[in-house]
Amino acid sequence: MPARVRVAPDPGVGAFPAYGSPGRLTPRAEVRGRFPADDEYTGRSRAPPWQRGRPVHVADRPREELMTTAAPPLTRQRAETSAARASGVWKVYGSGEAQVVALRGVDVELERGRFTAIMGPSGSGKSTLMHCLAGLDSVSRGQVFVGDTGVTGLSDAGLARLRREKIGFIFQQFNLLPTLTAQENILLPLAIAGRKPDQDWFKTVIDTVGLGDRLGHRPNQLSGGQQQRVACARALVSRPEVVFADEPTGNLDSRSGAEVLGFLRRSVTEYGQTIVMVTHDAVAASYADRVIFLADGQIVAELTGPTPERVLDTLKSLDRPAPPETEL
Ligand SMILES: Nc1ncnc2c1ncn2[C@@H]1O[C@H](COP(=O)(O)OP(=O)(O)OP(=O)(O)O)[C@@H](O)[C@H]1O
Ligand SMILES: [Mg+2]
Repeated sequence: MPARVRVAPDPGVGAFPAYGSPGRLTPRAEVRGRFPADDEYTGRSRAPPWQRGRPVHVADRPREELMTTAAPPLTRQRAETSAARASGVWKVYGSGEAQVVALRGVDVELERGRFTAIMGPSGSGKSTLMHCLAGLDSVSRGQVFVGDTGVTGLSDAGLARLRREKIGFIFQQFNLLPTLTAQENILLPLAIAGRKPDQDWFKTVIDTVGLGDRLGHRPNQLSGGQQQRVACARALVSRPEVVFADEPTGNLDSRSGAEVLGFLRRSVTEYGQTIVMVTHDAVAASYADRVIFLADGQIVAELTGPTPERVLDTLKSLDRPAPPETEL
């Protein structure tokens, strides 16, 4: 197994790189040339990708259903119900000795108006999956759709437009511009896109995050929780197709974290927003409608209607060695 090393910073470490302007600030690892043969990097199995790796165990769905890894084609109806979708997605970073396979044939569909959490051990591919779904990183094989837009194959300009128009981002480090006020930060993606804010919606978002009296403050005059609420408002003000949040409560104390999670939950329940959130925290995951568990770049389990206890139980069960495939 190749060493699991991070050779590039997470996309999104800069101020507002996800929205693609000015210039392209997002470092993207490009994988070029031949895709590796079956067992070239895993050393595990010569079986084709869809028969390889750990068996999938999904807590709430019939097992027969889980064995279907080939994603059906994207029909108009599917495009209407799915906010984002990955089909047979592989992601390989680097080459030769330094090659890392971060995703191994991931199929996942994120329904509109639902809150999905992604969990799994460090290095299991959570951020990579999110970045591939959000058009922040290219896939090595497979396809990604946001709504009915095929992300795979879009030019850099097309990707930047997709992120600007259809996607909202919330990162662990908030990524606010220090020289701008809270209000200016919130309206920045719209300003970049040359769009005027919908005043009623702006007011609703501000009221919901409870920042009405802080709009003129700069980030260094706000607490961590308040800064993250500014970042949430920034992600939601353009009413994106989907909001991707990578450990949004990772830098917050539990009270501020609960405020941010409560706000994300409300935006799904009351306004029909679609949210995908990476988290290590079972309590945070329990705010979601559905939790997807990743291990070694594959989806290995899933929960709907999660509670912290069920999330912890599932995480514990993933620590055990996978049962032989014949038991499924
Ligand atoms: N730009 C990159 N270049 C090379 N390898 C990378 C790159 N980004 C991620 N990886 C590797 O891909 C694998 C998956 O990384 P990823 O960041 O998706 O994990 P994660 O599940 O988000 O982990 P964490 O919980 O620590 O954030 C890791 O082995 C990581 O070292
Ligand atoms: Mg990560």
